[in-house]
Amino acid sequence: MDRIGPIMIVEGPNNSSKVPFSRSLYIDSQEKVLIDSGADPKALLAIHQELGINRIVNTHYHPDHTAHNHLFPSAVKMINPIEFEHSLTIDGVARANGINQEWGQKGVELWKKQLPQEWVQNLGAITETYEYEEEYSFGGIKVVFLHTPGHTSGLSCPYFPDLGVVFVGDYDMTSFGPWYNGTDGDIDDFIKSAKRLLELDAETYITGHQKGIFTRREFIAAMERYLTVIDKRDELVGKYVRQGLNFEELTSLGIFYPKKALQRPLMKTWERSGIRKHLDRLGLSVQEEGEVLLKAK
Ligand SMILES: [Fe+2]
Repeated sequence: MDRIGPIMIVEGPNNSSKVPFSRSLYIDSQEKVLIDSGADPKALLAIHQELGINRIVNTHYHPDHTAHNHLFPSAVKMINPIEFEHSLTIDGVARANGINQEWGQKGVELWKKQLPQEWVQNLGAITETYEYEEEYSFGGIKVVFLHTPGHTSGLSCPYFPDLGVVFVGDYDMTSFGPWYNGTDGDIDDFIKSAKRLLELDAETYITGHQKGIFTRREFIAAMERYLTVIDKRDELVGKYVRQGLNFEELTSLGIFYPKKALQRPLMKTWERSGIRKHLDRLGLSVQEEGEVLLKAK
């Protein structure tokens, strides 16, 4: 397990922090705080046994970051104030994921049937919020929860000013590129937040998925590549609109996801909601044709 001063970096199973898991941080101090719970459950339970986990702080509500909250029933769970208000009920999550927008109530009912119960339980067990931009001290370790909207509207990036470390969560530098496909995601906010992260006085950037630890220099270079994915998506959407494709055709090509993955209802939902954002951004509109119903898995 990697460690930077008092911060222990806990990976997903098999040392991979790919979705549906994510990287967690454990602040090894008197206060026993875990940031996000998407890491390997065995590793998290071992830390709990050895050192204790009294508090879990979630950067946002997505299931790959709250995945194992339920394994620590006595820990206090906190989330950012925006998502505490809007995203902790099943209907709130359905809205934020674009299920209502793309498929209406019928789609929401189908989606609800396939939800893992633990995930629903995890959201309901979050009882406290933290403030953005305030300095907290956990056992003497200072942390500020930066408000970095774009991936979701409420996402926070925990920044440790004294250590020069920032946990950038889903500003994750993966080859997939930026994810802002929920109705609570926003492309312009994403770019603004990315720039803010680059301006921090930080030497170490820790992402929530895949590679993990970046030096400042590596992160700056990776971010430049990462953000160009947004431009590439713009170009593709613009090109197909000029060719006269309607919305159904445009959302069946695989601009975000591989074409094959679009057979999965949730991927198809996010492909559609993501393409709507690019159409908006480009000031373009296309004809919606035919009604496609969301099918259960
Ligand atoms: Fe996320």
